[in-house]
Amino acid sequence: MTQPALPGHPYFSYRDGALFVEEMRASELADAHGTPLFIYSKAAMLAALASYQRGFAGRHAQICYAMKANSSLAVLQVFARAGCGFDIVSGGELERVQAAGGNAGKVIFSGVGKTRAEMRQALAAGIGCFNVESEAELDVLAEVAAAMALRAPVSIRVNPNVDPKTHPYISTGLKDNKFGVAHEDALRIYQHAASLPSLRVIGIDCHIGSQITEATPYLDAMDRVLDLVTSIEAAGIDIEHIDFGGGLGIAYNGDTPPEAEVLWRELLAKLDARGFGHKKLMVEPGRSLVGNAGLCVSEVLYLKPGEQKSFCIIDAAMNDLPRPAMYQAFHAIVPLALASQAQDQRYDVVGPICESGDWIGRDRALSVAAGDRLAVLSAGAYCMSMSSNYNTRGRAAEVLVDGASARLVRQRETPADTFKNEILLP
Ligand code: LLP
Repeated sequence: MTQPALPGHPYFSYRDGALFVEEMRASELADAHGTPLFIYSKAAMLAALASYQRGFAGRHAQICYAMKANSSLAVLQVFARAGCGFDIVSGGELERVQAAGGNAGKVIFSGVGKTRAEMRQALAAGIGCFNVESEAELDVLAEVAAAMALRAPVSIRVNPNVDPKTHPYISTGLKDNKFGVAHEDALRIYQHAASLPSLRVIGIDCHIGSQITEATPYLDAMDRVLDLVTSIEAAGIDIEHIDFGGGLGIAYNGDTPPEAEVLWRELLAKLDARGFGHKKLMVEPGRSLVGNAGLCVSEVLYLKPGEQKSFCIIDAAMNDLPRPAMYQAFHAIVPLALASQAQDQRYDVVGPICESGDWIGRDRALSVAAGDRLAVLSAGAYCMSMSSNYNTRGRAAEVLVDGASARLVRQRETPADTFKNEILLP
């Protein structure tokens, strides 16, 4: 029987025709916990992190996992125990970091719409840095910190205006995006920040987008940011750290993003060449740490042959795997058990939700029957964290595999769970 390789997924493999996650048979986990089921490989997460760690060896650098990619507590524990800080975008994410035993001092708080309450919460927790995204936010933060008799550590997110060459919904560093302050306004805003006694300016940051698969946009953004550091420091404001954001892509469909280690070797060479090699570095990777560490197992409910198209209806849907519906994203779909005599047919793989947008894969060659199970790959990032209860579907269960052991880390949500906060009329 052929054992197709799963490129980009070294911790997933077929053994005698059965899909394994590390040393665990995926079908056994689905038998035990039902479907849809997210399965994560701890070794895959740590290997992705190790690539960054090798890239930064010998440097003063802090990796802050952008937890919006996957904020499940067990995932946070894996990264916290490996020494990561976290990039958060809400007070809710800060609570998750704390619940997972993460160090608030290694938390950076990004996002264009921080509320006063979130600022107070983060100041009280003693987070490492606020990545401020506008002048208005800077003033509010100064006010909130002053009222608490604290000094808020700040970095200002600058918009380097480079094209990350990715999907428009996930590019963030262009002029017409809502993120960061314009390059030409940055120096003035830094001077303003430095004049506010309840703020302590410590860094500068940028983030140009997500699923970036080449080095050039990073190199261009670095040049733009370093130009600013030069002018800000010339104005007498010390920049202790430079945060280059996240955004490194993963292989979804034959994409060939650079390894983190390789990308950073190139970026650090530029940093050194421009005389900034001594600065503390921060990065905020999300997808590249978890995306290809997870898959979602789903059962085929029905096959529906049609004249124009045939449909393979599975029990996972856009509420579990929202990326195809939102970004026309591609996720590879593979069987849990390889058929001995594969007779591929082409199907649109769709979920049970009442929307034509509820598709998971289009025009896929599959050899399947009702009752078979499929794995949707690259499902570790921006799937569970973006899931919803649409159609009153409970969120899926999650399992974390570590070698030959597996642990349920999220129970499947029941329908009653989904409406437990609602209040019936008298
Ligand atoms: N830092 C900031 C300020 C961000 O806005 C983001 C992602 C990251 C770091 C992490 O980026 P990553 O390394 O994961 O590319 N839901 C979309 C992706 C949205 C990304 C939003 N910001 C998707 O599923 O493709």
